[in-house]
Amino acid sequence: MSGPGQRTQVGIIGGGPAGLLLSQLLHRAGIDSVVLERASRAHCEERVRAGVLEPGSVEVLEAAGVGERLRREGLVHHGIDLCFAGARHRIALTDLTGRSITVYAQQEVVKDLIRARLDAGADVRFEVEDVRIEGLEDPASTIRFRHAGAAGVLECDWIAGCDGSHGASRAAIPAGGVTEYARSCPFAWLGILAAAAPTASELVYARHERGFALYSMRSPEVTRLYLQCRPDEDLAAWSDARIWDELHGRLESDDGWRIREGAIVQRSVTPLRSFVIEPMRFGRLFLAGDAAHVVPPTGAKGLNLAIHDVRVLAEALIAAYAGDARALDQYSARCLARVWRAERFSWWMTAMLHRDERDDEFGRRLQLAQLEEVAHSRAAAQSLAENYVGACLTA
Ligand code: FAD
Ligand code: DHB
Repeated sequence: MSGPGQRTQVGIIGGGPAGLLLSQLLHRAGIDSVVLERASRAHCEERVRAGVLEPGSVEVLEAAGVGERLRREGLVHHGIDLCFAGARHRIALTDLTGRSITVYAQQEVVKDLIRARLDAGADVRFEVEDVRIEGLEDPASTIRFRHAGAAGVLECDWIAGCDGSHGASRAAIPAGGVTEYARSCPFAWLGILAAAAPTASELVYARHERGFALYSMRSPEVTRLYLQCRPDEDLAAWSDARIWDELHGRLESDDGWRIREGAIVQRSVTPLRSFVIEPMRFGRLFLAGDAAHVVPPTGAKGLNLAIHDVRVLAEALIAAYAGDARALDQYSARCLARVWRAERFSWWMTAMLHRDERDDEFGRRLQLAQLEEVAHSRAAAQSLAENYVGACLTA
């Protein structure tokens, strides 16, 4: 275990899926790391977020030795539905791409990773405060922090900034060191978890005059649902009755499909936005996951991009410790090729499915024409499907 003033090969800031997976992949290659996480273990394990894993992400998690429960409990889906103008249209992901997606909650991935790391005796510190990075352009870098009331210092060969979109690592890069490309969306999602058995076997993405809605699930007993709302939405203004009323109105189709209500066990509002940092490296610091890029969640890409970044970074660090540093120099470019494809897809899915108050009737007709094309043209459906399963996202 590393204590204050100790050193490690890779200092990892953030114990979300990106940081924990990186630590796990490095450990399996004999590389030492320390994970510094601001939140408590319970908070990390209970934070409800993503749910869709691309097949490539499942492979990485399996290769990291955390695939056992995922294989047992993950729900394998072969299609998704798009619902618009009262009708549902199935996009047959597996027929179109030969691949399927797995619905498995992000916090379950996090639980599996934390258990694997702690079982291996790893140094994962929760409730770490005031993380500061020094010497990013020096031969070795330092992370200073506070933990359990004491000051800590960690000397590292490399630092991985895996601390999400509001973390400390990106903020440590001097002005002009990287460029940020950003686009805001005038939307947010109100997400709920309901203790209700799903009434559909696949996800339903609905475009409706009242706004976007998404029907997803977590298990045979739990439904996960999202509603488009305003970014400044006050959760207090959404009674259970109002939430269910909007979900019924936006999701239910003319074929008689109905959603089932249940106790709302969790609710939150997430603003939608897009940003990319270029390059994803400054000196000894490598940014991975949401620390480097954010996508609106409509394409289910954020967690999958984080897993991809980390796979590439782990491979590059393993090669560097074996004497070949070239892959570290290629890390940013390799990741960004996929990131921009995912940004484009997420932006397109968002524009196609959300109600934009700034839009006129012409825009709304174009939106419906785009949906009709995806529903009725095999080529258009295939493009959506390839992006959704992550099949075409590598350069
Ligand atoms: P995070 O999960 O944000 O982890 C960062 C960690 O760093 C956190 O634990 C945080 O506490 C810690 N941290 C922050 N600051 C500091 C600091 N200063 N010091 C130390 N630690 C710090 N993606 C998909 O692929 N599929 C989906 O279906 C999907 N759906 C989503 C639905 C919603 C409602 C939301 C909000 C997101 C969704 N995403 C989805 C996106 C996905 O959740 C994120 O992309 C993913 O969490 C990124 O992982 P990460 O490890 O990079 O960052
Ligand atoms: C889920 C989240 C998403 O952002 C998405 O596009 C599909 C499903 C989910 O939480 O289940």
